[in-house]
Amino acid sequence: MSTDSNRRVLVLTGASRGIGHATVKRFSSAGWRVITCSRHPFPENCPWEAGPEDHVQVDLGDPEDRARAVLELRKRLNGGPVHALVNNAGISPKGPKGERLNTLTTSEEDWRKVFEVNFFAPVVLARGLIEELKAVQGSIVNVTSIAGSRVHPFAGAAYATSKAALASLTREMAADFGPFGIRVNAIAPGEIDTAILSPGTEKMVADIPLRRLGKPEEVAKAIYYLCTDQSSYVTGSEIHINGGQHV
Ligand SMILES: NC(=O)c1ccc[n+]([C@@H]2O[C@H](COP(=O)([O-])OP(=O)(O)OC[C@H]3O[C@@H](n4cnc5c(N)ncnc54)[C@H](OP(=O)(O)O)[C@@H]3O)[C@@H](O)[C@H]2O)c1
Repeated sequence: MSTDSNRRVLVLTGASRGIGHATVKRFSSAGWRVITCSRHPFPENCPWEAGPEDHVQVDLGDPEDRARAVLELRKRLNGGPVHALVNNAGISPKGPKGERLNTLTTSEEDWRKVFEVNFFAPVVLARGLIEELKAVQGSIVNVTSIAGSRVHPFAGAAYATSKAALASLTREMAADFGPFGIRVNAIAPGEIDTAILSPGTEKMVADIPLRRLGKPEEVAKAIYYLCTDQSSYVTGSEIHINGGQHV
């Protein structure tokens, strides 16, 4: 991976902080080119080699802007391959006082927005980059959540259902993309120490077998595993990264 032409390429959504930031660091340190996508301009506090040139500013919740971003990504790739696509960007809206939004209190508008970002963006990006992924039998990782498989005290109904749908999408895509040699997996984090967590999460630690929150770097390591040869026969899987919270 010494020259630009044989450098591996990662397209990563939501790289400005949290799990995405740790993922940028993990892949960059292994010599990958990382092309990032998020709403804000290039985050100065998350620097990586060639960062500003390889950042696409996009609102993944806006179907038109999303379509523009796919074209922009393909332009920047200039016919070159994508070895990995990591759909990490996600939103988890709360009520005005920070309260959980359930099936009775979530507006249709909010529900749709959550699905646009958490569910539709991954499928649009994967379909939009299929030729670039096919070229090198790339790997796709969708970031789901423990909230996709159980009612969670803080994550709301829209978030939970979007992540359950994303887990199902991962299976569907594994079946459809597999014949092209493209692997599609998901990782389902539990309570990871990032900005998305709600106040009060600390109290959940007592019920987690490993008795601590996870670190973004621990999630990034699992994403890296799914994007490399170490996992060459793994597809359609969802890896729990939650200190045993699901047991
Ligand atoms: N932290 C946890 O404990 C946990 C647990 C389970 C699952 N997860 C999942 O892990 C992923 C990352 O979580 P995190 O905790 O690292 O979240 P975070 O700190 O809130 O970061 C979210 C990222 O998504 C980007 N983003 C949000 N809305 C976007 C939009 N409309 N268009 C483009 N980018 C957008 C943000 O960048 P901009 O602000 O620049 O747009 C940011 O980089 C999410 O999918 C989340 O659901 C996290």
